[in-house]
Order: sequence, then C-alpha cells, then structure tokens
Amino acid sequence: MKDFASSLGNKKKFLILGCGFSGNFFARTIRRLGYKAFTSSRSENKDPNSFIFNSERDLIPNEKIFDGVTHILSCIPPDTNGNDPVLASLQSQLQKLSLEWVGYLSTTGVYGNTDGDWVSEIDRPNPLQKRSQKRLNCEKEWIASGLPVQIFRLPGIYGPGRSTFEAIGSKKIRVILKKDQVFSRIHVADITNAIIYLLQNKDSLKFYQIINIADDEPCSQIEVIKYCYDQLGLKMPKPILFEDAKNQLSPIAQSFWMENRRVSNQLLCKTLGYKLVYKNYKEGLKNCFLNIKK
Ligand SMILES: NC(=O)c1ccc[n+]([C@@H]2O[C@H](COP(=O)([O-])OP(=O)(O)OC[C@H]3O[C@@H](n4cnc5c(N)ncnc54)[C@H](OP(=O)(O)O)[C@@H]3O)[C@@H](O)[C@H]2O)c1
Repeated sequence: MKDFASSLGNKKKFLILGCGFSGNFFARTIRRLGYKAFTSSRSENKDPNSFIFNSERDLIPNEKIFDGVTHILSCIPPDTNGNDPVLASLQSQLQKLSLEWVGYLSTTGVYGNTDGDWVSEIDRPNPLQKRSQKRLNCEKEWIASGLPVQIFRLPGIYGPGRSTFEAIGSKKIRVILKKDQVFSRIHVADITNAIIYLLQNKDSLKFYQIINIADDEPCSQIEVIKYCYDQLGLKMPKPILFEDAKNQLSPIAQSFWMENRRVSNQLLCKTLGYKLVYKNYKEGLKNCFLNIKK
C-alpha cells in the first residue's frame, strides 16, 4: 500500500460510526497509517478514541467529536423501521461539516435472488428480504442526503476471529447441501484495503457512488466448510440435504438460502484497478487459520 498519510495529506480526521467487525478493522488500519480515527459504539468502553452513539437510546455524541472531521465511514445497519440510524440522528450535524468523503457499508442483499447469475452495480436492485428492502431504503437516504457518499455493497464478511473455523469450534456449524447454491464472500481486510485504495486514488479515478467489494470466486458453502475441516485435520460431518434441514433452521438462516447470486467485482478490480489481498476463500481462510493457531 502506498504511503496513505502523504497521499491523503495529514489533516484528515476519520469518524467510524459502528465499530464492530469491519469498522474496527478499518479504524486499526488507518491509525497504523498515521491517521486520527474516532469510533462509536453503543456502550462505554476503555478505548480513549471511542465515543458513544446509540440511536435507539437517543445517545448522541458531543458536538466536539465532530470538530475537524473530514471522513466518515458508517458501518451501522438500518433501524427496525428501515431508516438509517446515522441520518435519523446526525444528519443536520453532518451537513454542517466540510466532509470530503462519506463511506456507507451496505449489503449485496439488495440485489435479491438471481438463481446463481452474476450481478453488478448496473443491475437494478430487487431485494427479496425485508431486511434488504430496508437496506435499499438506507442507501437511497444516503444518496438523497447530498453528502459526498460512496456506498459499498458487501457479501458475507469473514476474517480473523469470525470465520468458518470459529463456527466449527463453537459447534454452530450445519453442513447443508443445496444443489447449485453459491455464496459470495469478502475478507474484512479487503473491505478496508479497497476503501483506502479508492481514497488514495480519489483524484485520478472516476467516482462511482456504488461499488461492490467481493472476492473473485463465489462458491458453495460446503466447499468452504470442507476446506476448513481439512485444515483442522478433522472429518467433516455428513451433509444434510437442504430440504431435510430447512425446518430446523431459524427464519433468518432459512432466508440466506433463498438467495443465490454471484457478485461481480469487475468495477472495483478491473475498471478501478484494486488488487484483492485475498482473491478467494482459500487465501482468506489461510489468513484466518494463522489467527486460530496463535
Ligand atoms: N456480517 C456480514 O456478513 C455482512 C454482510 C454484508 C453487509 N453487512 C453490513 O455491513 C456493515 C458492517 O458489518 P459488520 O459485520 O462489520 O457489522 P457489526 O460487526 O455487526 O457492527 C455493527 C456496528 O453497528 C453498531 N450499531 C448497530 N445498531 C446501532 C444503532 N442503532 N446505533 C448506533 N450504533 C449501532 C454496533 O454497535 P456496538 O459496537 O455497540 O454493537 C456495531 O459497532 C453492517 O451494516 C452490516 O449489516 C454485514
């Protein structure tokens, strides 16, 4: 990665709203690159760079937090009504700032089911699930806000500490077989690195408001599970046919199996020239495996 600090100038201040799995990875990376990054969470913690933001309890950050903020990344999902919690609580505050860039982490769920076909940013969203309809509504709210927003549509996120290895370890795994079903994925490091790449090259690259960040190789879940069992030197349990398993699945787990699509990364990786760190699940899981072996 080229020198981020010099390529962005040094007077940048990032707010990361929602410091969960992806937000935390992003914050740690840009701090390592020499940037100020403040992060929100819903409850108090020991991190001196963290502040409280909880839209459900109307806990709004002190105005001082926003002083000099140039970049915002929101990693917060829609509220129960399908509105964006950040815009609902903080829009007027954000509008007063001289923001250079706002990133919003969305989901590829907005594309709905394509029966395994590829989808790209030019395809019309067709969300099947209620939660994806809410997400699409949040995307629309961000665009309508007039803020300099860039929306990143993400498939299943995994990385060190949150991968199939942990699911196997906690015995939460179900080995389900559904013919021709694939899922797209992204390693958390590629979310961060792709965003940093786009920020570093902002002046030379055409600006796209909506960008998928996905790896090169959508594949079946069983392939991924089998790979992890092999790495662990364990025998994978016998797969259960989806038709037999579905009644035991929670509604949310069932809903994931209702959508079958391959998410294209051509805009990010071909048109814009980002080079994935982990181009497929094997590369990404090797990195996760190093983490569990530590
Ligand atoms: N996980 C996936 O596979 C996946 C796939 C595609 C897209 N996405 C979406 O991409 C984004 C990042 O994903 P992630 O898995 O990294 O998220 P995550 O770990 O679940 O973190 C979500 C963050 O949002 C904060 N938050 C939630 N509701 C809030 C509210 N009402 N007010 C203030 N803060 C709130 C949480 O606060 P606390 O830290 O206090 O809990 C947390 O920091 C999310 O919007 C997620 O829905 C996720």
